[in-house]
Amino acid sequence: MKTQKVMVAFGTRPEVIKLAPLILALQDDPRFSLTTVFTGQHRDMAQPMMEWFGITPHHTLDVMAHKQPLAQLSSKLLNGLHTLIDAERPDVMMVQGDTTTAFMAALNAFYAYDYYVRNEIDQSHGRHTCKIAHVEAGLRTGNNYAPFPEEVNRKLIGHLAHWHFAPTATAAEALFAENITEQVYVTGNTVIDALHLTCGRLAASPRPMPHDLPLDKPFVLITGHRRESYGEGFQHICEAIRDLAQRYPAYNFIYPVHLNKHVQGPVNDMLGNIVNVWLCAPLPYEDFVNVMQHAHLLLTDSGGLQEEGPALGKPVLVMRELTERPEGITAGTAKLVGTQRDNVVASVAALLDDPAAYAAMANAVNPYGDGLATQRILNILHGESPAANTFVPEVKAA
Ligand code: UD1
Ligand code: UDP
Repeated sequence: MKTQKVMVAFGTRPEVIKLAPLILALQDDPRFSLTTVFTGQHRDMAQPMMEWFGITPHHTLDVMAHKQPLAQLSSKLLNGLHTLIDAERPDVMMVQGDTTTAFMAALNAFYAYDYYVRNEIDQSHGRHTCKIAHVEAGLRTGNNYAPFPEEVNRKLIGHLAHWHFAPTATAAEALFAENITEQVYVTGNTVIDALHLTCGRLAASPRPMPHDLPLDKPFVLITGHRRESYGEGFQHICEAIRDLAQRYPAYNFIYPVHLNKHVQGPVNDMLGNIVNVWLCAPLPYEDFVNVMQHAHLLLTDSGGLQEEGPALGKPVLVMRELTERPEGITAGTAKLVGTQRDNVVASVAALLDDPAAYAAMANAVNPYGDGLATQRILNILHGESPAANTFVPEVKAA
């Protein structure tokens, strides 16, 4: 089999984290040749992640602007990526998840069929297709507006992709339900590979808490950024955190705040001056994992934290109405608590007041991966047997 030329495109913090194990493995694997493209969708928040994993992209775009409409971001990505795909002519475009970067890279790879004909390249061998490999395929809530626009991005990528690397059997079933039945593989989520790598390095060289974050009391770790919560949703979330901080002075509430202005505004205004609420800038991955390891529980709307929390034995309360990660709920590691003030407060209080309820969530099984997703994905890309490259989650003993 000839060496496959793989282009990996990424633009946001979670894409760097979840693609890093694949990029590191691809660059050392003689079965593949690798080109990496960082789109700059997250100009600041992605950079420390690349440094931690030692990734220097071959190409970098500069598409970020504050409060820009999705259409503007998308058109910049389409234009920038088109030139690179045209120049590099990869066999495979690898994208992860459901961001605008992932969708635009997949769409551009599909359009490559046209570029090759237009440029009269390889005409003697027929049209050249750039096949799309979708990492973290099949996540669905069933609602196009929750999360917005990610649910539609990932559905559309699903219809463009050639390989669908589903993290779990549930995600694979969601693809089958949409009639996507070919080349669907259950591999586990690469976030667990990234987490194992990071925890291993942290165990070998322990680090102090970043920014002198306090360890004098147990703490709740908070993150939030979903578009569907802009405005009222964030206001309710901040009110809930304010109530909790007042009611539980024996706990700290640590919140590394996403750089999005729609998040920074309400969070800084409403939580800036509370004695046991610690706001800080987004943390580099190694620091954030260190903080997660010390946290009592996670209160978040993040996708990645729903996967990492269980792996670290931390209960996750999800501030959303729906989740595309039902496995954590079924396994008892996560709970949907919405964004309504009273519900968020009551859900956190239930865990802080009841050690048995806390222990039940903290001890649940991890359904998202075993740290071997990367090798499975590369083996399947190379044409190896799917049977030998399938993730089967551990079953909890009765
Ligand atoms: C994006 C993804 C979302 C993912 C999230 C991870 C889309 C549509 N959404 O959402 O799926 O869960 O990233 O965090 O792709 N900003 C900075 N510096 C940064 C990063 C962001 O200042 O390093 C600010 C900018 O003002 C930017 C804004 O945050 O315009 C929003 O960034 P954007 O990538 O559009 O959306 P996210 O909410 O981060
Ligand atoms: N993360 C981080 N620093 C932070 C907050 C989050 O490194 O200050 C990591 C977190 O461990 C997870 C990922 O970023 O792996 C999640 O990113 P985010 O919540 O922005 O995106 P989502 O997962 O919701 O797409």
